[in-house]
Amino acid sequence: MPDRINDRPVTGRHEGRTAVITGAAAGIGRAYALRLAAEGAAVAVLDRADATPVVKEIHDAGGRAIAVRTDLTDPAAVAAAQEEIAEHFGGADILVNNAGIYPNQPFETITFEQWRAVFTLNVDALFHTVKAFTPGMRERGWGRIVNMTSNSVAMVIPGFSHYAASKMAAIGFTRGLATDLADAGITVNAIAPSMVRTATTEAGPADLFEAVPQMQAIRRLQVPEDLTGMLSFLVSDDAAFITGQTLFVDGGLVRS
Ligand SMILES: NC(=O)c1ccc[n+]([C@@H]2O[C@H](COP(=O)([O-])OP(=O)(O)OC[C@H]3O[C@@H](n4cnc5c(N)ncnc54)[C@H](O)[C@@H]3O)[C@@H](O)[C@H]2O)c1
Repeated sequence: MPDRINDRPVTGRHEGRTAVITGAAAGIGRAYALRLAAEGAAVAVLDRADATPVVKEIHDAGGRAIAVRTDLTDPAAVAAAQEEIAEHFGGADILVNNAGIYPNQPFETITFEQWRAVFTLNVDALFHTVKAFTPGMRERGWGRIVNMTSNSVAMVIPGFSHYAASKMAAIGFTRGLATDLADAGITVNAIAPSMVRTATTEAGPADLFEAVPQMQAIRRLQVPEDLTGMLSFLVSDDAAFITGQTLFVDGGLVRS
């Protein structure tokens, strides 16, 4: 494994844990997978796309990872993925609900099918993964769930009415789950980034790359690595008394 991250020694803080990270074939999820693996976690990447390149990167660095090709909108596929991970790694301690879609469309053009597609992945899939992975966490009396939301719940970007609604639902789910799962030793939190440079956002409206950083206190475009420290902290023992929170890791755009 690499012995340094951002030029500092690797801590090994997630040694002995298994992390399931959804949508980690690319973008923010990929950075999460590399970070947790570098800190000692075994990582299962759940993605409908081919995640073998990320898994290979982790293997090449001496880490442990598997790719489980899964359509997260299909509860049977998520249940099958849980079984495969249990066979491979003996269960999951950490669940990172990262996969999401964020089509940019004025409300007038959004069909009900498009509205449902956003909710089917950004909200319903969280229900499927939490149902699948929390029984094992309960048995072990320890678990960490992190849901990806967005600072677009708290700011005005045109064309995100369905997306902002789905990410508010993720925050509500985070708070409700934190309440229901605390007795089982499971914490549940959410991370809200700003506009982050990924292949998907690079293909979107170019003006947002200029406009959004200007609203932040730190006026540069966010990159996936800006988020990995917060994830690593939230899924560690250091964050054992933090639950039900939404952490805005967004360069200070939302100042609360
Ligand atoms: N990039 C940003 O600017 C930004 C800002 C705020 C919040 N977020 C949130 O962060 C998360 C990650 O964003 P990103 O930009 O890295 O995304 P991305 O588009 O780069 O990657 C998303 C991944 O999810 C996978 N995926 C999509 N549908 C799936 C399905 N049905 N089943 C399994 N996998 C599926 C894709 O194959 C892809 O690998 C999302 O929840 C997004 O809403 C992103």
